[in-house]
Amino acid sequence: MKLQSFFTSILLIFFSLLSTPKPVSANHSGFLQCLSLRLNDTNIIPKVIHTPNDTYFSSILSSSIQNQRFSSPNTPKPVLILTPVQPSDVQSAVKCARRFDIHLRTRSGGHDYEGLSYVTHNKPYVILDLRNLRSITFDNDNRSVWVQTGATIGELYHDIGLKNKTLAFPAGVCPTVGVGGHFSGGGYGTLLRKRGLASDHVTDARVVDARGRFLERKDMGEEFFWAIRGGGGASFCVVVSWKIRLVDVPSKVTIFNVTRFSEQSSLKIIDRWQYVSDKVDDDLFVRVMLQRSDKNMVRASFPGLYLGPVKILLELVNREFPELGLVKEDCKEMSWIESVVWFAELGDDETLIDVLKERTQASLSFKAKSDFVQEPMPVMAISKIWRRLEEEEAELAQVIFTPFGGKMNEISENFTPFPHRKGNIYEIQYLNYWRGEEKEKYMRWVERVYDEMSEFVAKSPRGAYINLRDLDLGMYGGVKKSKYEEGKIWGVKYFKNNFERLVRVKTSVDPFDFFCDEQSIPTFRSLDVI
Ligand SMILES: Cc1cc2nc3c(=O)[nH]c(=O)nc-3n(C[C@H](O)[C@H](O)[C@H](O)COP(=O)(O)OP(=O)(O)OC[C@H]3O[C@@H](n4cnc5c(N)ncnc54)[C@H](O)[C@@H]3O)c2cc1C
Ligand SMILES: *[C@@H]1O[C@H](CO)[C@@H](O)[C@H](O)[C@H]1NC(C)=O
Ligand SMILES: *[C@@H]1O[C@H](CO)[C@@H](O)[C@H](O)[C@H]1NC(C)=O
Ligand SMILES: *[C@@H]1O[C@H](CO)[C@@H](O)[C@H](O)[C@H]1NC(C)=O
Ligand SMILES: *[C@@H]1O[C@H](CO)[C@@H](O)[C@H](O)[C@H]1NC(C)=O
Ligand SMILES: *[C@@H]1O[C@H](CO)[C@@H](O)[C@H](O)[C@H]1NC(C)=O
Ligand SMILES: *[C@@H]1O[C@H](CO)[C@@H](O)[C@H](O)[C@H]1NC(C)=O
Repeated sequence: MKLQSFFTSILLIFFSLLSTPKPVSANHSGFLQCLSLRLNDTNIIPKVIHTPNDTYFSSILSSSIQNQRFSSPNTPKPVLILTPVQPSDVQSAVKCARRFDIHLRTRSGGHDYEGLSYVTHNKPYVILDLRNLRSITFDNDNRSVWVQTGATIGELYHDIGLKNKTLAFPAGVCPTVGVGGHFSGGGYGTLLRKRGLASDHVTDARVVDARGRFLERKDMGEEFFWAIRGGGGASFCVVVSWKIRLVDVPSKVTIFNVTRFSEQSSLKIIDRWQYVSDKVDDDLFVRVMLQRSDKNMVRASFPGLYLGPVKILLELVNREFPELGLVKEDCKEMSWIESVVWFAELGDDETLIDVLKERTQASLSFKAKSDFVQEPMPVMAISKIWRRLEEEEAELAQVIFTPFGGKMNEISENFTPFPHRKGNIYEIQYLNYWRGEEKEKYMRWVERVYDEMSEFVAKSPRGAYINLRDLDLGMYGGVKKSKYEEGKIWGVKYFKNNFERLVRVKTSVDPFDFFCDEQSIPTFRSLDVI
């Protein structure tokens, strides 16, 4: 450790001597020329380059905006959108952007909570939208898959389900999420306790680096490869495809959903849930969801997945968690792929598996924040959340508790940049949704709940999950004098001790900070005054 920090300070000095501020003068016509020359095919050019004058520009822009908060007439718009049709187009985009000082934003599924894949207020920008790069290719034994980053996790699940009902992948719940952002930030859903994060199962990647080179794992080296499996994609490169290793699931799994309408009985279950959900057999995953019902009353539901048959599930729950009151009628056996459809609230019928491929656009605005819980909260704290959910601004709000433990306890904090492993009982997500332009009161509701919970959650640091990005944690252009010092403010919340290592990787693979956004990993070089 000593040696490492010594090395770090040498690096710091070295880079602060090296750097001289570079004049920024984006040349968009030069960029377009460069790109057209490199694409070198009159058929391809109109498929790849979209200017605001093109009829389809605004529909391409909005079709994967998943948070309407960033879709108003006042939201800044890109000067161009590029939709590569082959990996070499990504390379061309990066090379030309670098040469003509163009600021790129990479977008895969467009689910970024703060819209960073398609919006910035700071400067003119170009969106590199990977929607056309979405092939999914199985290797011979069907266990490893190359998936291009423009694919959604729904498309991936769909193809796995068609291949083999006993293979699965441990990623998120919502099928429209893009594998580009999701795997690069971690990624988790119902298989979290059994298998860990999506990024824990990435075995290789093809990326385009800041110099426009194609690199695979063997070329980029293990530190670079480590960084993109949880450190957020936007700071290091454009990931073009991931190689992942599938996991086994039984041919029959069981889903259930218990709902309670009274506060008293809900709190009793949740209280007990805090002591059981992370310790119980890792075949069992039970979430807590607090939200208002159609009748506008707050209620708790406990949707769950068990990797086995109903009979054994009921025995397990009766033994370990009888407070849940689970009965056979709450449960249904199905294949894993059907459970994916069910969890996405798209039905519970195998014939519906095609819906996993639908690329629907979200119609609501939202704001969210995340926390990690390391000691059970007093019932009074959960009761406070319940009160908040009764408030007028919380009509569409949700508070979700996701249990950790199991595999998450076995993986060390520095195996990937995602550091929230052993010691965390569960994660909380506070979400508020709304319709229409007015946003302040809904945003403030999320802040209030978050403030109120501060004393009950992980404190030093108060953790956050990069995939549930929150710009309230800070962004560049704020209070500190250097980009490094600023980046550290939210960097340690997302990455804890892995932050410094991410900065080292960043400094070595992208020293000129070509891949950057409001919360990207800084270089040591950016110790300079901004
Ligand atoms: C409705 C909804 C449900 C969700 N459910 C879950 C869930 O169940 N579990 C979970 O863990 N998370 C969940 N998330 C969060 C989700 O994992 C993150 O928002 C994730 O970053 C989205 O990836 P994307 O490709 O769709 O987003 P994008 O907005 O396209 O990208 C997100 C970030 O990654 C960067 N990026 C995207 N593609 C690449 C690439 N190819 N190379 C380099 N950088 C790239 C972008 O520049 C941006 O910074 C959900 C989000 C939403 C909106
Ligand atoms: C932009 O780039 C083009 C092509 O290299 C060049 O001809 C032009 O002079 C540049 N414009 C500016 C303003 O630098
Ligand atoms: C570009 O186009 C020219 C003329 O059609 C052709 O000779 C050349 O091989 C092309 N280059 C690339 C990289 O495709
Ligand atoms: C869009 O059209 C206007 C008017 O026809 C033209 O002046 C402008 O150069 C065009 N912009 C682009 C990016 O093609
Ligand atoms: C791979 O999947 C296909 C079905 O898509 C199947 O026919 C083939 O036998 C599988 N290969 C192996 C080695 O299991
Ligand atoms: C499906 O995968 C399992 C491993 O989970 C394997 O044993 C089986 O042979 C595969 N079946 C097919 C049809 O590929
Ligand atoms: C579980 O039940 C609640 C309350 O009825 C409902 O809102 C939620 O959508 C259900 N969850 C799933 C995954 O179906």
